Amino acid sequence: MSDPKAPQRGGDSTRAVHGGEREGRPRVSDALSTPIVQTSTFWFRDTQELIDYQEGRHPSYEYGRYGNPTTQAAADKLRELEGGEACVTSASGMAAITTLLLALVPRDGHIVTTTDCYRRTRQFIVTVLPKLGIETTVVEPSDIDALERALERETALFFSESPTNPYLRVVDIPRVAGLCHARGARVVIDATFATPINQRPLELGADVVLHSGTKYLAGHNDVMAGALVGSTETLAPVRELLGIMGSVLDPHAAYLLLRGMKSLALRVGRANANASAIALHLERHPKIERVHYPGLESHPQYKIARAQMSGFGGVVSFEVTPDFEATAKFVDALQIPYIAPSFGGCESLVEQPAVASYWDKSPEERAELGIKDNLVRYACGIEDTGDLIADLDQALDRI
Ligand SMILES: Cc1ncc(COP(=O)(O)O)c(C=O)c1O
Repeated sequence: MSDPKAPQRGGDSTRAVHGGEREGRPRVSDALSTPIVQTSTFWFRDTQELIDYQEGRHPSYEYGRYGNPTTQAAADKLRELEGGEACVTSASGMAAITTLLLALVPRDGHIVTTTDCYRRTRQFIVTVLPKLGIETTVVEPSDIDALERALERETALFFSESPTNPYLRVVDIPRVAGLCHARGARVVIDATFATPINQRPLELGADVVLHSGTKYLAGHNDVMAGALVGSTETLAPVRELLGIMGSVLDPHAAYLLLRGMKSLALRVGRANANASAIALHLERHPKIERVHYPGLESHPQYKIARAQMSGFGGVVSFEVTPDFEATAKFVDALQIPYIAPSFGGCESLVEQPAVASYWDKSPEERAELGIKDNLVRYACGIEDTGDLIADLDQALDRI
């Protein structure tokens, strides 16, 4: 039985706390928190009940790969936060990306993507999609002319992060959506860096918003998850393929995702504030060559970011003077953040992308990919702003 007091709408925090959990979900032992429904299969009382299920008269579940009440509650919460019609969850962000591209791009099809992006996404696009005859045109996130030229071909979809990884470039989502839709191409935005607290791609015109739930949504650096939100029709083939490929979200992981999302607005607000303060502070620091943060006026897409984001995110990238060695020394001197990949948890994390993600590449290959040796990606957690800044200053004093 659903809760008659279930809020229909409300602000970000109200939806983050209550969304997906007060309406529709089965009430078990009057437990307030959504239970972890630890089962691989679901049973039917008789053949008639199974027939009723098949024909939509008996709402239930059938088999773990096709759905689970805990997973559904997590999907419903995110769907409400993004303001979408349907949500598909997956075992990781990469499972969401790979399944979406395989489901929505036809054999020998064409996609457009952007230069700055998570390296495994790029790897999938460059090494796996060509096996299906799928071609990709890569454009700069803000190069609208290049996008228009790319769309002269029949294009299935435009796929980009916004903000991007690691330079935090911003895509003008309404403009890109207008151009793509006029040519019949769908727009998919990986909004892992932004979260629905800072940016709502569907409201800006995107067809699908994608998340690595491993990051801010789950928010505690303790679980892998992925999710897609969009229309029921667009996501139907993705849902179908996920049921075949099998990279679905486990109920335990779904529970952690669900619990993490309750504090999403609070955590993201704090991470935004930390990152903004750090970006402003470092921009004035003599040992910092350049700061990349969409909330800075010096950012090339600052105006676009202001128009489509309500907060600028918890990740700041910056270049340390003068070189690779000084940057490594600075990273080693930091006391608060862990040296680790990922972002979006309570703990601040730091990495030198040249070492963390691109160590297998030669300096020339890194330069070609735009990964500078002195680049640092600093992912703010929810620690106190003053402590993070004092820690950055003492580490910069050591080089
Ligand atoms: C922007 C972005 N998208 C997708 C992914 C992949 O997500 P996952 O690690 O959950 O597979 C990552 C991982 O870092 C990411 O940064």
